Order: sequence, then structure tokens, then C-alpha cells
Amino acid sequence: MSKFEAMKKIRDEVVALKESSLYDYRTSNGYHAVLGEGSHDSHIMFVGEAPGKNEAKMGRPFVGAAGKLLDQMLAANNIPRESVYITNIVKDRPPENRDPLPSEIEMYGPFLDRQIDTIRPKVIAPLGRFSYGYIMNKFDATMFLEPISKAHGKIFDASASYGPIKIIPLYHPAAAIYNQHLKETLFKDFEILKQFT
Ligand code: URA
Repeated sequence: MSKFEAMKKIRDEVVALKESSLYDYRTSNGYHAVLGEGSHDSHIMFVGEAPGKNEAKMGRPFVGAAGKLLDQMLAANNIPRESVYITNIVKDRPPENRDPLPSEIEMYGPFLDRQIDTIRPKVIAPLGRFSYGYIMNKFDATMFLEPISKAHGKIFDASASYGPIKIIPLYHPAAAIYNQHLKETLFKDFEILKQFT
């Protein structure tokens, strides 16, 4: 199966995911599932938490205020947005932007796993503590798990099914919007990614 076909299959399955507790919320509000976007050959994959309202309306990841910040950081490092892959763990919007539930992470995690195995990134940059926790767990690196306030900007070496991978956790851009200090730290950490493009 080509990468395109594999990604389309993942999309079709998520769109039809009636077992998800977020399915009714999506369909009754006219929202879209948000699978992700970008290059299927990207070396870098960003993994956020879950779509917000703007994302669910448009069916695209990181298009709201947090997305603007992500765009600014990509631009500051001359990384075209379309050259990377941007997704979330949870593919449907949780009501009122609440944190994703463990059951939701469990429901959608396998789709993220398949996206990773299809795109085969060299670097995964989890955005925020939920995706950081998920990714460290997935790559059997929980012994190195720290609070995101300690882990941000560090490079963890891990093994993916297809070869070596680096995990570079970053603060979630939404957390940095109203916190100048976090924002400066996030912008600084982000520069590490440039060498992997
Ligand atoms: N926050 C996320 O974690 N993901 C998005 O797609 C948008 C905001």
C-alpha cells in the first residue's frame, strides 16, 4: 500500500469511528475529524493534543491561536509548514476544550501509531504533556519521563519499528500564548528542529 493509500485508510476509519465517545459530538455540531496535514515524507512530525473549535470546524490541525504561534516558529526557522507533518493524538474535538480523557487517548492512539509507521519521521516533537507522555510510553522510554517543564527542548533517542528516532518534547503553543516566559523558551527550543529538516 502506498503512503497515500495508508493515510487515506486511517482517515476513513477515523471518520467512521462510531465507537468513539466524541463521534456524536462531532457529527451533531457539524465538526470534522482532524487527521493531520503536511508532507508524508517529512522528517519531523509534530504531535499536539486534540483539535480545538477552529480545527474541528475546518478539519485542519493548528489553525487557531496556537496554530498561529506554531506558524511563527516554523517561519522563524525557515521551515515551510507544508514540509512537516502536523497532527494530534486525539482526532476529534473534546467538548469545551477539556483535556483528553485516558479513554480517548486509548481510542485514537493506534491511529497516530499508524500515521507514525507510515510517515516514518526521524524526529517526533510532542507538543505538551499529553502527547509527550503518549510518545514516551509508545517508545518504551517512560524511565526518562519527566515533567514537561524539565523535558522540553531535550533530545531523547528511541527506536521505532523502522529505525532510530529522536523525541524532542516542546511546550504546547497554547500554553505559551499568554505566558511570555514560556513563549521565549518555546521559540528557543524550536530552533533545535531546524537541523533535522
Ligand atoms: N491544540 C492542539 O493540541 N491541536 C490542535 O490541532 C489545535 C490546538
